[in-house]
Amino acid sequence: MTEDQSASGEPRPAAADLAAWGRLAGLASQAHSASLASLLRDSARCRALRSAAAGILFDFSRQPIDLVVLEALLELAEERRWKARREALFAGEPVNTSENAPALHTALRAPDADQPEAAAQTVPATRQRLLAFAESVRDGRRTGHTGRAFQRVVHIGIGGSQLGPELVAEALRSADCPLTFHFVANIDGHAIADALADADPETTLFIVVSKSFTTLETLTNAATARNWLLERTNQPEAVAAQFVAVTARTEAATAWGLRPENIFPLWNWVGGRFSLWSAVGAPVALGLGKAGFEALLDGAHAMDQHFRQAPPEANAPLLAALIDIWNINFLGIANHAVLPYDHRLRRLPAYLQQLKTESNGKSTRHDGSDTGVHTIPVVWGGEGTTGQHAFHQMLHQGTRAFSADFILTGLDGHQPPRPELADHHRWLLANGLGQGQAMALGWAHEDPHRAAPGNHGTNTFVLDHLDASSLGALLAFYEHRVFCQGLIWDINSFDQWGVEFGKRLAETLFEQLGRAGAALGPDAATHALVAHLRALNAPAKEEGNDLPHQ
Ligand code: F6P
Repeated sequence: MTEDQSASGEPRPAAADLAAWGRLAGLASQAHSASLASLLRDSARCRALRSAAAGILFDFSRQPIDLVVLEALLELAEERRWKARREALFAGEPVNTSENAPALHTALRAPDADQPEAAAQTVPATRQRLLAFAESVRDGRRTGHTGRAFQRVVHIGIGGSQLGPELVAEALRSADCPLTFHFVANIDGHAIADALADADPETTLFIVVSKSFTTLETLTNAATARNWLLERTNQPEAVAAQFVAVTARTEAATAWGLRPENIFPLWNWVGGRFSLWSAVGAPVALGLGKAGFEALLDGAHAMDQHFRQAPPEANAPLLAALIDIWNINFLGIANHAVLPYDHRLRRLPAYLQQLKTESNGKSTRHDGSDTGVHTIPVVWGGEGTTGQHAFHQMLHQGTRAFSADFILTGLDGHQPPRPELADHHRWLLANGLGQGQAMALGWAHEDPHRAAPGNHGTNTFVLDHLDASSLGALLAFYEHRVFCQGLIWDINSFDQWGVEFGKRLAETLFEQLGRAGAALGPDAATHALVAHLRALNAPAKEEGNDLPHQ
């Protein structure tokens, strides 16, 4: 059976043709009038909408659904044969249909003895190599070209090759780690210049991460970094000692000048935004050491087990995805805010923005037909409590419907304990809880300027404490939530063809920006902007620019 067919070999129906979809559409008109204030008085309902897994409480009770809607959503998942699709994912079937490839990120965090065939020969060995490398950098056995211990790590990569490692390395940064970490993603030269500004060429380690090893930003930044090192050391040996790469195209990294022992492989069956668990997570291994990296993988694996074993009505990723479907497709909600109430998780909105929108920002089904229904909405967000003094105004009193995830951390996590900061943490939690409560219940006030309507559905996820294991579990939860959304919409969550299109356009424009008089095609707006930018960069040489230039 291929991924674009149902078990019977028949093409899968469009989402809106499913029986449960019709039932949900009927329920939605009643739900519009159901108030969260009354739903939240029902403690049995609230209990049914809470589930726990891998050190995280998942509370969906502040969502505008009752148990009848929940039952219909679970029917929808059944109709989509979600269990068989989930097992196809774990078994390495070609769930990425447009590229005829598996999506085996779960293998990257599975124990050695539990590896699917496609990964058994490569994943455990690469993981051991990565951990040995990380330990040798941390304890000073592996050094820069003059024998001095590394002090700075410059990670060069973008998108999935940057957001996950940056999020985790920042969130779990430990005061006793001798290394500092700098992440360079943007092709804007200010990014690499900042990372190198006060770097020591003898003690800086560069990690070049690119699955494809063709990404413009990464290769441009890596070349600049290599030149910087060569200019300051005048020794090719410095590059051999101080550059490592992570890529699925190891031959391209070798051709770039790296030694095979400094290249960690990736595989086509792991998508960039799902690759944190591979050697792409090198900054995590370097920052936390072997035990920390293994804890991250173990936490993610625990969530994989929950996803495979928990019954549907207590299955956190499935429930979250089904409630998303309810909000997006039946209540018409077109934006979703990620609100971590933990400063250490401030990069989470950016990470989830890529995970969710690059995976499910699609309008074409597996078989090439139109989804006919909306898919992922705008995903954005920012850390609490600072967002309360910026965009929460719009959330409380604006005209747009939204949904949101609150992410709270139960214990403050200071090691050693810092009693002087205990009130900070209690205030943080009080604000996170209070904002969700206000969004649900609103504020009745006789002055219309002060009143807030409320009735906005939100999720609350509470990590017992933030550590490598719970963060691994949280990120794996989001991966599976994205997968479950995709299977209901019948889209391929594992490709990203839309991004490729934008990359090609920049190549032509790069040429045009550098060449006076180049043909600019039919787009007058772009023509004028190119001419303007060329004039700014070389005003004396440029001819034929008809724009006024101040
Ligand atoms: O932006 C598109 C994309 O292909 C992402 O999916 C990916 O994470 C990123 O570019 C980086 O790709 P690579 O790891 O191949 O450099």
